Order: sequence, then C-alpha cells, then structure tokens
Amino acid sequence: MKHRQLGKTGPGVSALGLGAMGMSDLYGPSDRAESIATVHAALEAGMTLIDTGDFYGMGHNEMLIGEALKGRRDEAQISVKFGALRNAGGGWSGYDARPLAVKNFLAYTLQRLGTDHIDIYRPARVDPNVPIEETIGAIAEEVKAGRVRHIGLSEAGSETIRRAAAVHPISDLQIEYSLISRGIEDDILATCRELGIGITAYGVLSRGLISGHWQKGQGQGDFRGMSPRFQGENLDANLALVEALRAIAEAKGVSVAQVAIAWVAAQGEDIVPLVGARRRDRLQEALGAVAFSLSAEDLAAIEGAVPKGAAAGSRYPAAQMGHLDSERPRG
Ligand SMILES: NC(=O)c1ccc[n+]([C@@H]2O[C@H](COP(=O)([O-])OP(=O)(O)OC[C@H]3O[C@@H](n4cnc5c(N)ncnc54)[C@H](OP(=O)(O)O)[C@@H]3O)[C@@H](O)[C@H]2O)c1
Repeated sequence: MKHRQLGKTGPGVSALGLGAMGMSDLYGPSDRAESIATVHAALEAGMTLIDTGDFYGMGHNEMLIGEALKGRRDEAQISVKFGALRNAGGGWSGYDARPLAVKNFLAYTLQRLGTDHIDIYRPARVDPNVPIEETIGAIAEEVKAGRVRHIGLSEAGSETIRRAAAVHPISDLQIEYSLISRGIEDDILATCRELGIGITAYGVLSRGLISGHWQKGQGQGDFRGMSPRFQGENLDANLALVEALRAIAEAKGVSVAQVAIAWVAAQGEDIVPLVGARRRDRLQEALGAVAFSLSAEDLAAIEGAVPKGAAAGSRYPAAQMGHLDSERPRG
C-alpha cells in the first residue's frame, strides 16, 4: 500500500482510506459479519485510515469499528466526525458544535470505539450558531489532553478553513470530490494547499452512481432515493457519463470504479480518496485503483468524457445543500 501525507502537520496515511458509513446507515441494509470482514481485509491490505461518524447509525458504526479493531487498534488511524443531531426515528435535527457538546460527543465516541484516542476528530458540518474558533478551540484542548491527535474539518469553505487554521493546525478537509463533484477546484483546494491542509475526498464514486455497477431502480429507500442525481432524467444523463467512462476503463483493462478512484488520486499527492466499500469484493476492486496510474492522455480522455460540471442535479437535496459551508457563495 502506498502512503500519503495529510497536510503539513497531519499523519501519514494509506493512499486510500475506508469510509465505513454505508456499513451502518444511508445505503440500505448491510451485513454485519461482512462489514467486519471488510474492515479486516482493509487492514490486511495495508489500509490504515478508517473514517466514521458518531451519528452513522446513531453509534452503530463506531461500535462496529470498535469490534473490528479489537486487539488491532494500532493498525488503524480512526477519523471521526461529530456534531450531527439525530432522533430515534433516524431523522436529522441539525448540528451542535458548541465546546461542551464537543467534549460530550468525544467522551461517548471513545467508549463506543473502545479506545483512548481518536487520530483525526472533526465537526461533520460547520455549526452556523457557533464560531468555528470555539469548536476548534475545544478540540484543541482534547489534543492537549492526548485524547485527539489531529483536527480536521468537513465541508468547510475557504473563509472557515482560514479561521479554523488560525486557532490550531488542521490536518485535512474532508469534502466530496469526484469526477462529477468538482466544486473544490474553484477555491477550496487552493486554500488548503496554501495552508498546508490535506484533503480526504469522499463520494469518489458519487455514492455508487459512477461505480459502473449502478442499476436504475436501486436505492429507492435510502439516501439515493432522495438525491437529485439519482432521479429521472438526471439519472439517465449521469449514467450516460458512466458509459463514456466505461469505454475508457475498458480500453485500459480496468473497471469504471477504478478509473473514478484513480482520477481523484491523480489530482494531487495531498488528496486521499475514501472508498465506501462495505463488502470485500468491492474493497478488492477499490484497492485495484492504487495499482496503476493515469497518464496525461488518460486524464485528457477522461476530461473529454466527463467534463467539469457535467453532472445533472446537485450533490445533495436542497435542504442539505443549505448545511454546506463549502457551498456558500463567496465574497
Ligand atoms: N464528510 C462528509 O460529509 C461525508 C459525507 C458522506 C460520506 N462521508 C465518508 O466518506 C465515505 C465514502 O463515501 P461514500 O460511501 O458516500 O462514497 P462512495 O465510495 O462514492 O460510494 C459508496 C457506494 O458505492 C458503491 N460501490 C460500488 N463499487 C464500489 C467499490 N468498488 N468500492 C466501494 N464502493 C463501491 C457501494 O455500493 P454497494 O456496497 O451497495 O455495492 C456504496 O454504496 C463514507 O463511508 C463516509 O465515511 C463523509
């Protein structure tokens, strides 16, 4: 497994990270034993970075990872998001990133994961009611106490990133980045590079849409059932992009998912793609993406097949787009 450095102050991590969300939430039923076997297979392949959130399945995901890492904690670097509020019906009730809430969330997270430290701790979203300085300041106290190693951000825009980095070094920004979600190229990527902050890219397969495996009619009862890119004419247009990508992948003798992951990895040594594999076969496919690289000709052909801005539909439903600090108009 190759390694990449997350920002100038962050940890060295595997060049591909495992995102565990779908093992507990948002993508329909998953198999617990297969999920744990997938985490183990990732460790055996040398993947060290595992991403979770305390709200994925309301603690389910952290307990699952805690079980998978029993006796193997030192083989993994755990990235945890906090701050999203849930209810018992599975609904979403906003965000809380007040200093006291930070301390409370972390205390529960450490218990559920069965560990005494988190490698990277980050607010899932910027809480509009709490200055980012206060949230980062509270995590910085946990760094001092040894319970957190590095501080990250998620879906933050340039101005917030600068304010956060002025309080404490930020290892990485976690943000959606894929062939069909290229918003960070406008200014956020440049801001992170200027400040020496790495990127952990999520949704590199656009939640399965550009994996090459997506079939119409799938995902009705989960996140995808409400996601604009998976609906009606948008879906037809987006799947046409996948077919254009498939032609390039087949010519190279790799899969569509592998091209999509390799494209993100090719955008810079400071970028670590997270893959949402929850089965070992999907993981093996994803791992194949770090075994080859894309040439300048490949990248030009991919750009021709899926130009920037080609996706039909926004990356989240409108209400959730409103929670993205990264999508706020600048200036
Ligand atoms: N910071 C944030 O706001 C945020 C938001 C979302 C996610 N994340 C993190 O990022 C991680 C990855 O995001 P994601 O799960 O949305 O992204 P993803 O990797 O784009 O999508 C995962 C989906 O792709 C499908 N897939 C098909 N082939 C695959 C392959 N070879 N490898 C992996 N998946 C394949 C999986 O489907 P099947 O398993 O059904 O086949 C799964 O439903 C999450 O697990 C989470 O930790 C962060």
